[in-house]
Amino acid sequence: MRAIDEHTITEAALDQMASTPDPRLKEIMAALTRHLHNFAREVDLTPEEWLDGIKFLTAVGQKCTAYRQEFILLSDTLGLSSLVNALHDRRATEAGTKSSLVGPFYRQDSPVLKLGDTIVTKPTNGQEVCLYGRVFNAAGKGVPNATVQVWQPDETGNYDLQKHDPSEMDLRGTFRTDADGRFYLRTIAPLGYMIPMDGPVGDMIRAQKRHGYRPAHIHFIIGAPGYREVVTALYLQGDEHIDSDTVFGVTASLVTGVNSKDPSSPIPNLPTIKFDFQLPAAAAYGSGRVGADPSQIVKKVAS
Ligand code: BEZ
Ligand code: FE
Repeated sequence: MRAIDEHTITEAALDQMASTPDPRLKEIMAALTRHLHNFAREVDLTPEEWLDGIKFLTAVGQKCTAYRQEFILLSDTLGLSSLVNALHDRRATEAGTKSSLVGPFYRQDSPVLKLGDTIVTKPTNGQEVCLYGRVFNAAGKGVPNATVQVWQPDETGNYDLQKHDPSEMDLRGTFRTDADGRFYLRTIAPLGYMIPMDGPVGDMIRAQKRHGYRPAHIHFIIGAPGYREVVTALYLQGDEHIDSDTVFGVTASLVTGVNSKDPSSPIPNLPTIKFDFQLPAAAAYGSGRVGADPSQIVKKVAS
């Protein structure tokens, strides 16, 4: 009989799980168990501390509703969502624009608009801009008819889901690139905002003396047949939190700015935000949409 102590417990747990028929589940659970045990040994975890941890995780679960995914927020604020995105990008078979968090405010079925249309549907004090760029592939060729989904907060840092009746959409739209892979639209410059802080994740952020802000950004999901979907966001240079995003979505290659004099703007006399997106070829790997999709949950609740 094996003597169970603080070291042999790990092998004992792994031996019992060895019967798992699904090889990937077996691999994931074995690694998780090993790392959890090492963590407990490293910090010499006490029963009181682990009970506090269980209380925290219970509160995270209890905060989840049809509109709120506190576990994803926890994953985001621990940097795990961004790490999973980076691993996803590494599996791409061709170079492409880096992934960034989809976040909790994405909705499927945003209004289908024409190039040059505005995504602003409510009165606003925001600075109007032309958002434009090109979708291209690894050969440098424009990708025509690519779907460009865009969504963003307003000039006060709020998404439509935080302001209006959830059935009313604002500051989001779906566009198709033209024959050269170009897209252009009117919108307003977004403001950065604080992640939802009224739950246990907010308590954690405060306990760690973190500010809780995300820098100003605009989200995109871009896809076309034969290409891997790119789920990403653009971040605005000059935002005071550009180097300290609470959810680690910012990476240097996704930072752009508002250009007040852009002679190449497809909509003259407007400041511009410009970005070109590279789509890697499609391959046999899963989605990069690490995040909640409240639109689907809203539908379920309504029906
Ligand atoms: C967002 O970009 O909207 C977001 C992402 C992660 C956590 C909270 C908000
Ligand atoms: Fe966001």
